[in-house]
Amino acid sequence: MSVTLILGLQWGDEGKGKIVDMLAKDYEYIVRFNGGDNAGHTVIKGTEEFKLHLVPSGVFYPEKTKVIGNGVVVNPETLVSEIGTVESRGYSMKKLLVSSNAHIILPWHPIMDGALEVSGKIGTTKKGIGPAYSDKASRTYAIRACDFLLPEAEFRQKIERIAAHKKKLFGALGFPDFDTAALMAKTLEAAKKIRQHICDTQFILNDAISKKKSILLEGAQGALLDIDHGTFPYVTSSNTTSGAGCTGTGIPPQKIQRVVGIAKAYTTRVGEGPFPTELKDPVGETIRKVGREFGTTTGRPRRCGWLDLVVLRYTCMINGTTEIALTKLDVLGGLRELKVATAYEIDGKKTADFPLDLPRLARAVPVCETLAGWGGDISRCRKISDLPPNARKYVQFLEKSLGIPVKIVSVGPKRDETILV
Ligand code: GDP
Ligand code: IMO
Ligand code: MG
Repeated sequence: MSVTLILGLQWGDEGKGKIVDMLAKDYEYIVRFNGGDNAGHTVIKGTEEFKLHLVPSGVFYPEKTKVIGNGVVVNPETLVSEIGTVESRGYSMKKLLVSSNAHIILPWHPIMDGALEVSGKIGTTKKGIGPAYSDKASRTYAIRACDFLLPEAEFRQKIERIAAHKKKLFGALGFPDFDTAALMAKTLEAAKKIRQHICDTQFILNDAISKKKSILLEGAQGALLDIDHGTFPYVTSSNTTSGAGCTGTGIPPQKIQRVVGIAKAYTTRVGEGPFPTELKDPVGETIRKVGREFGTTTGRPRRCGWLDLVVLRYTCMINGTTEIALTKLDVLGGLRELKVATAYEIDGKKTADFPLDLPRLARAVPVCETLAGWGGDISRCRKISDLPPNARKYVQFLEKSLGIPVKIVSVGPKRDETILV
């Protein structure tokens, strides 16, 4: 198995960071392929913790090559600060590569993101992700990492042209202004620090594959935040599904043999949009408190709800998920009974298929099965047979309903709090 792809099967924050860090020991390359610093991936080793936004979750392995693929949008200031944080704690980032084709988030992008949030609320992270991908798609006013390698005068000219356009646009729309000189100084400083990492990663990754090296692709966000397949418009602006592992890296599809879908044992969502199994009651509060469900990037409380198999059947289908990693099972420990959505009722009709139009999804009432809880702490379980019978039944119920094996069960945030099935 040379290329493995990891992605979230819900609305993000499934525990991708933990699973990538855990599996990274068996891989030589760890590669982010989509999103930007809207992501927040937590990795923990012993008492050390990093909350990573841009660099792949392989920071505890300085000897491994970490790649920011062409599908990622890179905020240069975030990147410099993240490299600094990781290195200041003793983990070298010399082996970090940034794709020359990755698009750059510039200070006008977050301003625009914030201003657009005022007119119509998606609940974005306000990191400028949408505006940066919009500029990428519209082509005329975009900067890529390769532009950081241009002679300074040429680079300045390029930025000034775009800045002048943005100023005109922001003025007309009544968006906040920005200081081009300050922006230029900051960007040039960051560009100088990042330059050494920029290269043509498509060739490096394909060369690695031909040399039988192993690659771990790390998705950001979750499948239901995918701009094509998710709950549009309440999504992010990139593809978060497995196809993006190819387009966001230049790795051909037939090279990806293993697709690990990460599912939380319940469901969470940050930001706006329909969420059929959401719990707006004390049970939801308990899950949020026990699971520490607060955004890694923005600190916002995450909305919490029951596990939703309608969601997982759909996201497993569109991603070609070959195995499941079930995370945060320990969080459900205190609950007497657990509900799992197996279908939805929409306008009096029962359906097992995830509705792809938003108004129908918003009207969906989950049809749930009730499973018995197990009570108590399972964080010391290391084998499936260590789990209380009802916890095992919960895992088996999910496995049977999806027809996909659960190969990893996570019972705590630490590396060793894991059951490999
Ligand atoms: P990601 O965006 O998918 O990488 O997930 P986040 O890091 O944003 O959020 C997951 C949170 O849950 C982090 O604080 C992790 O440390 C924590 N976590 C991961 N796996 C488990 C688990 O099995 N049990 C518990 N209790 N916490 C976990
Ligand atoms: P990780 O990788 C959870 C959500 C935002 C918002 C929507 C659009 O940590 O799982 P954006 O800033 O991307 O334009 O916001 O997407 N969102 C996430 N939710 N986890 C994430 O990343 C997210 N990245 C974006 O809350 O609803
Ligand atoms: Mg996160």
